[in-house]
Amino acid sequence: ERKIAIAIDGPAAAGKSTVAKIVAEKLSYIYIDTGAMYRAITLKALTHGVELNDEKAILELLLHTDIELSQKENKQIVLLDGEDVTEEIRTQKVTNNVSSIAKLASVRKEMVIRQQALAESRGVVMDGRDIGTHVLPDSEVKIFLIASVEERAKRRYEENIRRGIDSNLEELKEEIKTRDEIDSKREASPLIKAEDAIEVDTTSLSINEVVQQILNAVSNFL
Ligand code: C5P
Repeated sequence: ERKIAIAIDGPAAAGKSTVAKIVAEKLSYIYIDTGAMYRAITLKALTHGVELNDEKAILELLLHTDIELSQKENKQIVLLDGEDVTEEIRTQKVTNNVSSIAKLASVRKEMVIRQQALAESRGVVMDGRDIGTHVLPDSEVKIFLIASVEERAKRRYEENIRRGIDSNLEELKEEIKTRDEIDSKREASPLIKAEDAIEVDTTSLSINEVVQQILNAVSNFL
């Protein structure tokens, strides 16, 4: 059976991980959340008090850091140097700082090497910002997910309520906008739609409808 690579990119909170997980499960593929890797090194830098704009120091830190993504009972677990940081990497503190680290070219270079190694045997759904453009430019299926910033903030807000986290809709909107701006304007592999990516605007689509569109695109290759 032929196994392909599926790249899912797009701005913050567009629902990438939600649909990527479902698509991976349906195809029995592995799901790789590259944002979690940037979040993990951000958490470590914050914990160790390393200046986030000190590129040399951050790269050095990353080279001595083990980041492992694993699946446990359908849940994605993130291990930072062997420690479970699955919840900690989603805090507002990490979210507000991750884009500063993600714009460092040498850090991206190292991350891309690790991500390509994870996808070596194909059969992967990988989500992020530069998967279709830089990490797996030869992915058979490339999806670029977008949604209005209002809708994305609303979804994050409702997700927070479900998880028992207090948040403010306006603040979430600002955070999402700021992150998108840094991610889109950085020099090193910015957030941009790959030429051959299928753009899907999820603003008024259900999760299932988005999943179906992706599976339709996949079916051309299987
Ligand atoms: O996907 P998620 O929102 O968890 O990503 C967190 C941050 O990591 C993004 O805002 C971006 O700065 C960075 N990122 C990236 N390239 C990727 C994945 C994430 O620059 N492939």
